[in-house]
Amino acid sequence: PQVCWLAPEQTAGKQKPYMYTQGQAVLNRSFFPCFDTPSVKCTYSATVQVPEGFTAVMSATSWEKQKDNTFVFKMSQPIPSYLIALAVGDIVSADVGPRSRVWAEPCLIEAAKKEYDGVIEEFLAVGEKLFGPYVWGRYDILFMPPSFPFGGMENPCLTFVTPCLLAGDRSLADVIIHEISHSWFGNLVTNATWGEFWLNEGFTMYAQRRISTEVYGLAYTCLEAATGRALLRQHMDNTGEDHPLNKLRVVIEPGFSFFLGVNPDDTYNETPYEKGYCFVSYLAHLVGDQSKFDAFLQAYVNRFKFQSITADDALGFFLEYFPELKEKGVDSIPGFEFDRWLNTPGWPPYLPDLSPGEQLMKPAEELAELWAADSLNVEAIEAVDITAWRTYQLVYFLDKILQKSPLPEGNVERLSKMYPKISKSQNAELRLRWCQIVLKNNLEAEYSKVKDFLHSQGKQKYTLPLYRAMWGGSESARALAMETFSATAPQLHVNVQNYVKKILGLE
Ligand code: BES
Ligand code: ZN
Repeated sequence: PQVCWLAPEQTAGKQKPYMYTQGQAVLNRSFFPCFDTPSVKCTYSATVQVPEGFTAVMSATSWEKQKDNTFVFKMSQPIPSYLIALAVGDIVSADVGPRSRVWAEPCLIEAAKKEYDGVIEEFLAVGEKLFGPYVWGRYDILFMPPSFPFGGMENPCLTFVTPCLLAGDRSLADVIIHEISHSWFGNLVTNATWGEFWLNEGFTMYAQRRISTEVYGLAYTCLEAATGRALLRQHMDNTGEDHPLNKLRVVIEPGFSFFLGVNPDDTYNETPYEKGYCFVSYLAHLVGDQSKFDAFLQAYVNRFKFQSITADDALGFFLEYFPELKEKGVDSIPGFEFDRWLNTPGWPPYLPDLSPGEQLMKPAEELAELWAADSLNVEAIEAVDITAWRTYQLVYFLDKILQKSPLPEGNVERLSKMYPKISKSQNAELRLRWCQIVLKNNLEAEYSKVKDFLHSQGKQKYTLPLYRAMWGGSESARALAMETFSATAPQLHVNVQNYVKKILGLE
């Protein structure tokens, strides 16, 4: 399952085949012999021979093209097995900064360069200022074929990303900032087991939003964090707050006989990300001073770099670093015990204050209210000009509409006509929400948008919610699910295929 072989039709250019690997969480054991656990780190080198007209790239410090289409790679820092990655295709590169280039199929390279030219270095520089030296040498980005199952994958030196990020307006750069943040949290300081995955993702979400605050300001960052909180709400509503996966520390046991065990890949959900973010924000809240907490994060990276750790290591270091907090017993404040954060499922006991984003969220909330009314106040609606809204403001508005859906008869049709900027958008985050709204309101006239979106890309976080919504909807929505899946299954990543099959009861 580790190695994805794509036919020409499954690429952007549709001319040549493509192959790529995805190691996280436990897939690399089917690629090469290894200790496939994040608790073991090593350097690696690789020699890869490809057919004429193809280029190979890897998550490596250096690479060299030799004769006979042979590429030699060396990773000179110790990394866990899941970060070893290879891609081969008809790909070319363009510089976008002093230590960064983008890689993409020739037909996408212009768009890729335009999207990120000149901005990557600022993200890296702010990251270094906050968290310490960037130790990996280069930071390059590979734009993957549309079926890539993630928004981004933090393969060291060479992040893999979905081509959906090519929105034309840099509006989805938070994914790049997220993957850059893994350069410290995840790739340098690594979760020792997949049961502590939140250490990678929760700290990274926090770091991402620290960088975002420095670059884009607090208001915008709080708005983005609010859309993250909405995803956590949706996830907990879907699974039930008490679901065992809604703890930060997940029990991962091997399967035996009738007991199937827990596959770490199945623990990929919003809890390690957004509840993890809340826990790290809570630690910052206990400290009470942003610059002191930033200094702690830098000390944490320095203390544990190139190691793999557990939450106990991280929290032990926190209490050691702030002895006055340890003395006060902050790890056992009733209701907020560190042990409760780690081992009790459910909604986070502490939520960071996102009110600095209110100036951006309020207008979106008010507009959503207007659209949810039984008889529309058209005058009030027309008085709101959304043309200047940022993508995440529109996303936030659509999340509110979705929460209030189904809307009174006819409102979604009107909304669709009134805002082609939304209903005809090519931005993947907007398309996802629009499709969710179409399904929740059973707007059959726009089913084709759901179908087109699912044909255009295969990101897991876009694909599964839509199949869940179709399967939980009307007869015609279910038929749409079946028809779309049988047409697109071959181009989906095998993990994503299997999850969709589960949703559709095909297993
Ligand atoms: N490392 C993850 C992707 C991943 C997680 C792959 C688990 C396999 C198993 C990556 O850093 C990530 O979190 N990507 C997010 C980005 C988002 C949170 C900005 C994604 O793909 O949506
Ligand atoms: Zn991540």
